[in-house]
Amino acid sequence: MSTFIIANWKMQKTHNESIAWVNEYAHELDEVVKQSQNTLVLCPSFTPLQSISAQLKNTTIAVGAQDCCAFERGAYTGEVSVLSLQEIGCTYCLVGHSDRRHYHGETDCCVAQKALLLLKHNISPIVCIGESADARANKKTYSWLCKQLKPLLNEIGDVETQARLFIAYEPLWAIGTGHIPTQEELYEVSAWIKDIVSACLSVKTHILYGGSVDDAVRPNLHELSSIDGFLVGRASTKIEVLKSIVAGV
Ligand code: PGA
Repeated sequence: MSTFIIANWKMQKTHNESIAWVNEYAHELDEVVKQSQNTLVLCPSFTPLQSISAQLKNTTIAVGAQDCCAFERGAYTGEVSVLSLQEIGCTYCLVGHSDRRHYHGETDCCVAQKALLLLKHNISPIVCIGESADARANKKTYSWLCKQLKPLLNEIGDVETQARLFIAYEPLWAIGTGHIPTQEELYEVSAWIKDIVSACLSVKTHILYGGSVDDAVRPNLHELSSIDGFLVGRASTKIEVLKSIVAGV
């Protein structure tokens, strides 16, 4: 089965740098994706999205946004509509990334609203969830994750829609820190997420892991049947590292 690699470039590259990177590496990356038969989604920041979507049009590499507005259109200054993302060929969109929750105060309800809007417009939402170090230390991981997932799972509609949902488990203590959960910890949490999701939905949902994944250090997916791929931040802007991750899972 195809493994999903989501490259979250955050704000690491400017508009021109992003386009130049794709110009230089799209071909070789495409070859690696084809050989591996995995799925690669590049998520640059908003301004280069349209150009990159056009650059990757005849490749196997998909394009995703890093966020969207919770409303379709209207007086929402500075926001980007799901309708625009759809028009320019985005097929995936991150929502509820911990950067958005932390710096922009995004709530679980707002994240659910964005995910539902994306599903309505045939874009796969990658809903990011993950507990803090404190919650983990106080054995509150599951109540934390449950609170984050509930507004979404309560509202999600028909089966066809459900099948497009992705959930990325990104413990806050693992993002950008170089620490990743042990195989056992990850197995336990991802299996719990799978169970709680399948109790509410009628189809299988894709579960990803994110947080300090690179070519040298990453969970072994062959031993983790409950994980379908990785959400990669920092390491995904380095071509050799990204190629190695795509080829190696
Ligand atoms: P990282 O980021 O891979 O740099 O830890 C992951 C993320 O924030 O999505």
